[in-house]
Amino acid sequence: MKLMNKVAAITGAGRGIGRATAERFAREGARVVILEKDEALGREVEDAIIRSGGQARCIPMDISDPRAVEEGFARIAGEFDALHVLYNNASVFLGGRDAPVVDLEVEIWRQVLAINLFGLFYCCKHGIPLIIRSGGGSVINTSSSAGLIGIPNCDAYTASKGATIAMTRSMAVEYGPSKVRVNCIAPAAIATEMVKESNFKDKNFDETAFLRTTPVRRWGTPEEIANIALFLASDDSSYLNGTILVADGGITIT
Ligand SMILES: NC(=O)c1ccc[n+]([C@@H]2O[C@H](COP(=O)([O-])OP(=O)(O)OC[C@H]3O[C@@H](n4cnc5c(N)ncnc54)[C@H](O)[C@@H]3O)[C@@H](O)[C@H]2O)c1
Repeated sequence: MKLMNKVAAITGAGRGIGRATAERFAREGARVVILEKDEALGREVEDAIIRSGGQARCIPMDISDPRAVEEGFARIAGEFDALHVLYNNASVFLGGRDAPVVDLEVEIWRQVLAINLFGLFYCCKHGIPLIIRSGGGSVINTSSSAGLIGIPNCDAYTASKGATIAMTRSMAVEYGPSKVRVNCIAPAAIATEMVKESNFKDKNFDETAFLRTTPVRRWGTPEEIANIALFLASDDSSYLNGTILVADGGITIT
């Protein structure tokens, strides 16, 4: 049990990587706080964890709403009186509407940054003080291959994921002395609804060709990212601070 009695908040834990991580953390003894915009999804994960003997609480939250985030973290402080892990996982990829800068609608740029970047900022703003008050802990941010290499047709998403890497490093420097480690996972090609709703709806997407350029020749699973999140959340990574763990089967090195 690597997270026994730790309080771990995960944004976007209603499905995909967030859900797999919530379930994994709960199996490791954590009290998991599901911060999810889609309340029905969040409640489903809460129920599933409790049914299997774990501890979970869903707090419905749209991370792009600064007031909701402030209130949500105030609830965590009130109900748990502690926070040890903050996993900033929620994001959107608006496939079909995100675009190269010249074609990108300002409103889409705003929507993506409001969630992926401003949301990260609000959660850190209200979560980190709570982690410091709890004696320290771990913040895990979520970038993407799009934050590391040039990926066409998604400049708003790319901007948000590149900024996430920069913020990871600056927050690691800023809060390391307060015993808060800040690291980042940069996934690619993880088989989730996000990929189904973007790549698979794109008529130009050729899965066979894509997998041919992927060194491990397969999609990753949410559980494989949950394993990395567990490593970053736990004391197993106690000397890691400011790192970007690239979890992409080798896509970005080809
Ligand atoms: N799946 C991949 O291949 C891949 C690749 C690179 C990066 N990522 C990143 O990994 C993270 C998780 O991706 P996923 O594939 O599990 O996505 P997903 O779309 O399957 O799940 C995202 C979850 O976040 C929630 N969410 C969305 N907007 C929210 C908001 N404003 N407030 C609160 N919750 C919100 C959704 O309801 C959903 O439950 C994201 O940050 C994504 O950018 C994923």
